[in-house]
Amino acid sequence: MNRRELRMSLGTLRFLDAHAGAPCGVLDLRTRPAPKVLVWHPAAIDWIFRSDQRMRHPGSRSLTPLFGRRSLLWADGSRHAAYRQVLGPPLRGRRLAAYRGIIAEAVHSAIDTLVPGGQIALPAWTRRLTLGVMARIVLGRSDDALNAAFTRWIERALGARHRTLAYRYLAGGLPASGVELDERLVRTARSTVDSWPATLAALLLAGDGPLRGIDDAELRDAIVSLLFAGHETTAAAAAWTLYWLDREPRIRQEVAAELAGTDGSTAARVPLLQAVIAEALRLAPPVTVAENRELTGDAELLGRPLPAGTTLTPSIYLAHRDPGRFPDPGRFDPHRFLGDRLPPQHYFPFGGGSRYCLGSQLAQLEIRMITAAVLRRVDWHCVNPRAAVPRLRGHAMAPDPRLRMSVRSCRD
Ligand code: HEM
Repeated sequence: MNRRELRMSLGTLRFLDAHAGAPCGVLDLRTRPAPKVLVWHPAAIDWIFRSDQRMRHPGSRSLTPLFGRRSLLWADGSRHAAYRQVLGPPLRGRRLAAYRGIIAEAVHSAIDTLVPGGQIALPAWTRRLTLGVMARIVLGRSDDALNAAFTRWIERALGARHRTLAYRYLAGGLPASGVELDERLVRTARSTVDSWPATLAALLLAGDGPLRGIDDAELRDAIVSLLFAGHETTAAAAAWTLYWLDREPRIRQEVAAELAGTDGSTAARVPLLQAVIAEALRLAPPVTVAENRELTGDAELLGRPLPAGTTLTPSIYLAHRDPGRFPDPGRFDPHRFLGDRLPPQHYFPFGGGSRYCLGSQLAQLEIRMITAAVLRRVDWHCVNPRAAVPRLRGHAMAPDPRLRMSVRSCRD
């Protein structure tokens, strides 16, 4: 690892902020043994997403030990296509309606735990809530003990940046989930295949599906990947959305008016809320870099020749802070998203190309429904807005864990 890679690794956000606004939009992270380039130039991003099918998608060094070598996040070729064929349809369009009951139940139960006069750590509260939703969708049930064991493991590995780095560089890698947790996840997945709506695990296991015969080790990697990718990201975006609505009373009032008589499930009825969510995802994208792309042949990027084997890492964080596209990029302004749709090479919180996030619609449905229920039932305020700064959890980015809300009252 060279000095630049080390600086990026040890002080990622500081390193990235130092390059925000640089017009080149590409940064060499290393040149040997094979080049690795961080990319946020719109033309380069467009080229990467269009060429995606011809690239490899090797897992990151830090996450592969957690999610497993056979995770769908870095599957390629026909195996990757099979995963998308199985998981794509239930996670988009009308079929998403099947999850509305699960989300509503989870968010109202979470609100029922709030105590007037008490305080909660907002990022942990949204994380518990979205893990409960994902557990129901992936495994068919949300088992508190299992969720707690999963959370303990993720916290140990990614909860504090200094600990993650110590594991990575001093202890030889991030801590494994362990046989017991893996077995419980797989056992639960296999025992709930008859629940309704069909669990994602049941679809992976379907005897007549393209993944038929999937073994326990690969099933474990898929479950862990879905639980993690599906809950950490959504929780961070939900926490930012709730935070910004607390800080911007006028916008909160307009959003509350938009939500009158709806549970937030229909995006078309709540354009301002959608814009608030989009702006929260721009300012603090929960995934700071999309998956690595590796060139399988020599190529040219922005007129510059790159050899086969080069790794290209699309930087969502830097693209979203381009002052040319987003004037005064550090300012929260949802009105940026009320006009025409932004081109995907400028704004891509869910990545793009053949790896475009499978859960983007589910995530936004969850965030809308969480916001609708909170605005209707909870009167709270942020007690320490200074803690509203992004912190890394692996490649994921969430508000500082100390960000707290003080609950004044709750309605039924
Ligand atoms: C706000 C919430 C979310 C954000 C910001 C987010 C963001 C992303 C990003 C940036 C990628 C990589 C795309 C690329 O490399 O081009 C991704 C991939 C993925 N996401 Fe999400 N995600 C979110 C929620 C979810 C949810 C709820 C699920 C649940 C199913 C999910 C499942 C996945 C999967 C399975 C992939 C891998 C897709 C593939 O490699 O083909 N995500 N997500």
